[in-house]
Amino acid sequence: MDSAANLVGIGRQFLTQGQDAYSLVTFKLALELDPAFLPAHVLISESYRRLGESARAAKHLAKAFQLSSSREVTTVGARVALSQAASSELTQHCHALCNGLLDDAEQVELHHALRAHFESQAIAAGHTAAEESSTTSKPVSLESPLTDLASVVNYCVLRFGFRKYLEIGCNQEITFRQIIAPYRIGVDPVKGGSVRLTSDEFFAETNDDFDIILIDGLHRAEQVLRDVGNALRYLRRDGVIILHDCSPATEAHQAPEPVEFIWNGDVWKALVALRTDPQLDIVTGDFDYGVGVIRRRPNSDPIVLPRPYLQLSWQELEQHRQEWLRLCLSEEVKAWL
Ligand SMILES: C[S@@+](CC[C@H](N)C(=O)[O-])C[C@H]1O[C@@H](n2cnc3c(N)ncnc32)[C@H](O)[C@@H]1O
Repeated sequence: MDSAANLVGIGRQFLTQGQDAYSLVTFKLALELDPAFLPAHVLISESYRRLGESARAAKHLAKAFQLSSSREVTTVGARVALSQAASSELTQHCHALCNGLLDDAEQVELHHALRAHFESQAIAAGHTAAEESSTTSKPVSLESPLTDLASVVNYCVLRFGFRKYLEIGCNQEITFRQIIAPYRIGVDPVKGGSVRLTSDEFFAETNDDFDIILIDGLHRAEQVLRDVGNALRYLRRDGVIILHDCSPATEAHQAPEPVEFIWNGDVWKALVALRTDPQLDIVTGDFDYGVGVIRRRPNSDPIVLPRPYLQLSWQELEQHRQEWLRLCLSEEVKAWL
């Protein structure tokens, strides 16, 4: 697993340098070592997409969805992935779906459009995502590797006996529905979860407290910092905060507004700003677009930034990614926790 992860790290460097063909070869090697390595499937799909091989890109993204979640999510995810090989109109629809912007009638329409496209693509590629989607959800245990948001949250729930979970930004509940904590609150102004409010509105009115809080709402650095500040007020003393989308693979993925299907926003700027705080200890899991994990204890590896966080550039992130984000593999995150 570690060798595949190392190769993915090298491949990502190639990707960020625009060396798409080299990145492709590296991700292929990683998948030879570990055919079920989710980050390799996500990133190789980006290499294929850039090299104009959209059907292969879609196939790997479908595989990534399969590896990351439940059967139902996989089926939707596979269709969304396959739509990347479709017209820009369909891709736009998928994007809207993922952002929870479609009403029910529009979703039905999208479903039919994708279904038709999916079937023709699957035949052309000699591959059906429906077949791949027939696996069951992953088992949850302390031994399971950390690969995505749900695996990190559930690991903490099991290891620390956490009971009360809060998720900011739920959308299709890909993560929310997998969480095994007995008490779950999900906040989203548009879709998913149990409370139809923005995070600011929710924190202004709640009196609840939580053991573990996932922040995956509006992917703008200032909002993320505000969400973390509020989360700290309602987090129990030994609780954990999780941040999604901390390690974007490309400059486009961290643009202020979404320009591609994958959008991480500039969450990374919030993460590096927090890494300077002497009272917060933070690592970033190097999987699932970067999963930041925050504990309220003295900072064991503080960083110093050259300028205010909002003025940091993509080039600076590229140069300091490992140090600033404190990237860790699954077993390192577990040991640090
Ligand atoms: C990336 S999706 C969340 C995905 C989800 N956490 C998961 O793992 O499946 C982002 C969600 O954040 C929601 N959102 C946007 N602005 C928000 C805000 N100010 N407060 C809370 N949620 C927000 C959007 O409606 C969208 O559903």
